[in-house]
Amino acid sequence: MTTLTLSPAPLTPAEEAACDHAERLARAFADLTDLLPPGTVLRRDEPMARRTTLRVGGPADLLVEPAGEAGAAVVLQVARLHGLPVFRLGRGSNLLVRDGGIRGVVLSLLHPGLSGVRVEGERLHCGAGAPLRQVANAARDAGLTGLEFLEGIPGSVGGALRMNAGAMGGWIFDRVETVRYLTPFGEVREVPGAEAGAVYRGCPLFPANVALGAVLRGEPAAGEQIAARMQASNQKRWTSQPRQPSAGCTFKNPAPDRPAGRLLDSLGLKGTRVGGAMISDVHANFFVNTGPASARDVLDLIDLARGRVREACGIELEPEVEIVGED
Ligand code: EPU
Repeated sequence: MTTLTLSPAPLTPAEEAACDHAERLARAFADLTDLLPPGTVLRRDEPMARRTTLRVGGPADLLVEPAGEAGAAVVLQVARLHGLPVFRLGRGSNLLVRDGGIRGVVLSLLHPGLSGVRVEGERLHCGAGAPLRQVANAARDAGLTGLEFLEGIPGSVGGALRMNAGAMGGWIFDRVETVRYLTPFGEVREVPGAEAGAVYRGCPLFPANVALGAVLRGEPAAGEQIAARMQASNQKRWTSQPRQPSAGCTFKNPAPDRPAGRLLDSLGLKGTRVGGAMISDVHANFFVNTGPASARDVLDLIDLARGRVREACGIELEPEVEIVGED
């Protein structure tokens, strides 16, 4: 683990505890400026609406985009030292940030240094920030099947690991040979995918740890077959899912044979609006931003939909989208 030399001199734990939030942020900002190499993105009050596919959400106190694993470890250590919470951000495609934004440090993993995809034989070495589409394309170009379903998921590898993202009958942990992550202390660990304990839309390693990447495995197949599968998946998506800004599916399916989208649709909720948020008229489990939505609009729409399903069917829908931040 890296030993940090901080500037100005670190406070004693008692002094640190007495600091208010603004002071801790200022100290963390100064330390990160000193410790991270030039080229690192480091910003105060970064609007999260710019960094989420739903396009809502208030500012992050501090946003850091380190250029590699060592930098990411430094961010965790500095945040820990100053008692600041860390939220890790991928492509923001499954995220609803409240209008008050996120207190503490947002660790973005989108820097090219953490977003690579390298193919070696049947294995793809993927950084956490790599877009899933890029992984699917790299597998196709290398003549590897099994990853076509990632083609149209708007997220990153890191987000997909955290959520065990799936579509079109596959989910990512079926393909994970090893997963690499940072502990809250900034230590790098790697475990076999089979030992990560992934379940439907979740993996217990996260969010306590920060995903750094994974080795995915494909199987050799004919190029035309892979391209045809990707095209079929793409076709299904474009005909069954909306194109407006959204965070993907809002709720988990309460049971494999009871998709949330069908339930909401059967209650006539397509097209229902609160402010600028609307239940998509293409797929009822997608809540879209029609332009001027606030996070509050989306949250109120979520409450309305849950209430209707509870009343009509006695089912408590559980959000699939991650809801974070302050009102
Ligand atoms: N349906 C309706 N009305 C709707 C939407 C769906 O009747 O408004 C019906 C469909 O006709 C179909 C069934 O509900 O018979 C299931 O719909 P779909 O095939 O779209 O799958 P889903 O269960 O709604 C899941 C994942 C999606 C993923 C798709 C495609 C969850 C919560 N959702 O959706 O993932 O893209 O399968 O494989 O597991 C996401 O994770 O954000 C997400 C969108």
